[in-house]
Amino acid sequence: MSAQGPSTVLALIEAGAQQLTEAGVAFGHGTANAFDEAAWLVLWRLGLPLDDLDTVANRPVAAADAAKVVALLSERIASRKPAAYLTKEAWLQGVAFYVDERAIVPRSFIAELLVDGSIDYWLGEHTQRVLDLCTGNGSLAVLAAMTYPDVRVDAADLSTEALQVAAINLTRHQLDARITLLKSDGMSAAPGPYDLILCNPPYVNSASMNALPAEYRAEPELALAGGADGMDFVRRLFRDVPSCMSTSAVLVLEIGNERAHFEAAFPQLEVVWLETSAGEDQVLLVTRDALHKGLN
Ligand SMILES: C[S@@+](CC[C@H](N)C(=O)[O-])C[C@H]1O[C@@H](n2cnc3c(N)ncnc32)[C@H](O)[C@@H]1O
Repeated sequence: MSAQGPSTVLALIEAGAQQLTEAGVAFGHGTANAFDEAAWLVLWRLGLPLDDLDTVANRPVAAADAAKVVALLSERIASRKPAAYLTKEAWLQGVAFYVDERAIVPRSFIAELLVDGSIDYWLGEHTQRVLDLCTGNGSLAVLAAMTYPDVRVDAADLSTEALQVAAINLTRHQLDARITLLKSDGMSAAPGPYDLILCNPPYVNSASMNALPAEYRAEPELALAGGADGMDFVRRLFRDVPSCMSTSAVLVLEIGNERAHFEAAFPQLEVVWLETSAGEDQVLLVTRDALHKGLN
C-alpha cells in the first residue's frame, strides 16, 4: 500500500488487511482477524466512528490522510504492539477504556457475563460490596459499577503502573466516588468481606508463555504468567479468599484455556462453568461454601 494508492476508506482497509496478513501479525486483543484489525486502525486514524463502516466505506481519503494510515499500519507491523497500545483505547461491551503498556489490553469474558445478566441469579439485596481483583486497567470494576448502580466496588492490583491506568478510567467514567483502588498482593490488602468477587488473574502456563506471539509479549508479564500449570495465583487465592467472602458470596474467575490444569489442581471443588462467547470452559463461578467444602 502506498500513500498514492487506495483512495477510499474501504480500499485502505482492504489493503491494510492484506498487509497485516502478509506480515503474519497476531490478533486477539480486541479483534480476531486482519480485516477487523485494519478497519479499527484505519477508522481510528481517520477520526471516524469505529462501529459504522458501512456509512463511510466509500468516502474518499485525501493523500495526506492516507499517508497517516500507512504509517500507523507500518508501526503496527514493525512494533508488533497490539492495536490498542497504538490507539491508547480498547472497547469492551461497547464501553471505551484508556489503555497503555502499563496494563494488559482488556478483553475479559467476565465483561460479557456482567452485561448479559448471567451472574445475577447469585446476586441480590445482599450484594453490596464487589471486588475486582487483578483489575489491570480497571475495566471490570467500571463495568460492574455501571451494571449494579448501588454497589461499592474495590479494584485491586499488585501493579502500581496498572493502577495508574485504572485511575484514568475511573475518572473518564466519573466513577471515582464509587470505586476504590487498592494496591494489593492477592487478597492481602483487600480483606472485605465481599459479596461478589470478579477475578481475571494471570493464568497462562509456562509452556504457553514460552510460545506467546510478540503482541502478547508487549504486555506486562505480571499480567499473564501463572507458573508451571497456570494455577500459581489461583492456588493462593483459594487459600486466602474464603475469609474475605460474606456468607452468600460468589467468586467469578476466568481461567482461559486452562480448564484441564484447573481440574487437575482442584479435583474436589464444585464449580459452575459459565457460558461466554469463548465457550463453556473459560469462566467459572464458585460459592464460599463450595470453597470451604472442596478445599478442606
Ligand atoms: C490478566 S490481567 C487482568 C486485568 C484486567 N482485570 C482485565 O481483565 O483486563 C491480570 C492482572 O493481575 C495483576 N496481578 C498479577 N499478580 C497479582 C497479584 N499477586 N496480586 C494482585 N494482582 C496481581 C496484574 O498486574 C494484571 O493487571
